[in-house]
Amino acid sequence: MSFLRAVGTWKYTREIQCKHPFIRQLSAAVHYRRLSTSTRTRVNSCPPLRDTRFTPRLFSRPIQVEKVEDSVALKVHGEPLSFGSFWLRDNCQCSNCIHPDTRQRIGDTFSIPTDVSPEIKEYVHDEVKIRWSDGHQSTYSMEWLDLHRARLGKDEKTPLSLRPFQSHTPGNESYPTVEFGQVMKHNEALLEWLENIHKWGFCFVDNVPVGPDATQSLLERISFIRHTHYGGFWDFTADLTYKDTAYTTDFLGAHTDNTYFTDPARLQLFHLLSHTDGHGGESLLVDGFKAAQVMMEENPEHCVVLAEHSQPTHSSGNEDVCIQPNTEFPVFNTTKSGHLYQIRWNNYDRAAKTNWSVADQKAWYAAAGHWSEVIRRPDMEIWTQLKPGSALIFDNWRMLHGRSDFIGKRRMCGGYINNDDFLSRYRLLKFGRNQVLNHIGSSTAKENSPNMFF
Ligand SMILES: [Fe+2]
Ligand SMILES: [Zn+2]
Repeated sequence: MSFLRAVGTWKYTREIQCKHPFIRQLSAAVHYRRLSTSTRTRVNSCPPLRDTRFTPRLFSRPIQVEKVEDSVALKVHGEPLSFGSFWLRDNCQCSNCIHPDTRQRIGDTFSIPTDVSPEIKEYVHDEVKIRWSDGHQSTYSMEWLDLHRARLGKDEKTPLSLRPFQSHTPGNESYPTVEFGQVMKHNEALLEWLENIHKWGFCFVDNVPVGPDATQSLLERISFIRHTHYGGFWDFTADLTYKDTAYTTDFLGAHTDNTYFTDPARLQLFHLLSHTDGHGGESLLVDGFKAAQVMMEENPEHCVVLAEHSQPTHSSGNEDVCIQPNTEFPVFNTTKSGHLYQIRWNNYDRAAKTNWSVADQKAWYAAAGHWSEVIRRPDMEIWTQLKPGSALIFDNWRMLHGRSDFIGKRRMCGGYINNDDFLSRYRLLKFGRNQVLNHIGSSTAKENSPNMFF
């Protein structure tokens, strides 16, 4: 075992306690179920993340490098940053290992000796340079090392954790809104639009020219439009061209779209172009995160059931289509750390599940019945009337939508955007390319991590 030391030149102070509620929420996750209801509400209703730029973790004591069997431990300020030796060599960030333009891995992982170990290390400014036993030279920034340290413990998991969000209060007629002209012209306004969607779950865009072309251009400010069996950009009337309840004049209860896809669209935009010879057709939005929070307070076990029991779904209305996802999905889809990232709820498209016991069936119907009752409460339903010139976009992984029945002829246009494309655009605008690239692969839960904006 060899000890290597170097004295860093950093004279920094390190922030000991993150004050952001999200981080507090993560660290307190294990105690979550013991908290009182009022405390839980406070924890989950924390304000949105601040737009902070990276501040280097700052160190005031010498840095040590210790080689222990198959791992490399950097001791900084007495705190170990641990890396598997082979992993660290494989994840060398030099231009021979990561292509500087494509950012793709170009080193041959499997030609690295399996017993590769660090031999010579030095510190220059905020970088660690390592010469490996196979002769390769690597340079890692301290920021990158800090963000990519091995996280050996299992993530603490609560039945359901929620990322920071804000929820609109039904009845309040002041909605998150941006201006079409600003969004089309300025990236700052585009970012504000995406922030509103991420924070509130929906946003109106005012002063949109009343026609399909401007509406399509608006959507394409975010990304390309997701094509489905309903087409790409839609421009439709209630004529049942596509045999789906959405193309009728009937009442539509709160649901999410695309539960029948392996990868449902993340965003959905509607722009009512005209409504003639009739009335009705108010739009309904229900904040699924807020509803999940209510469920969590009223019956956490129901949340566990909705997160663990998956359901089959399908879309089969048209003769040439029968779509079913590759696998069944639950209503509450969570990350490995238990964070709710996607709600799938569409009772219209649920298929007949067979692979469950009667006991499972009873548990699921009780939990789903609770959920269905919560999302129909008047204090959950946001009712708005779409009008020409004002487009509504919402997060289809969070907000449930529906509409009242209507008479007359409505012409509606709109489209879908994929999750990955939305998040890519949002994170890059919010954090800048360097910070996003630095965090690739990192699951460190910090408020300035773009990866925490899911
Ligand atoms: Fe829908
Ligand atoms: Zn390299």
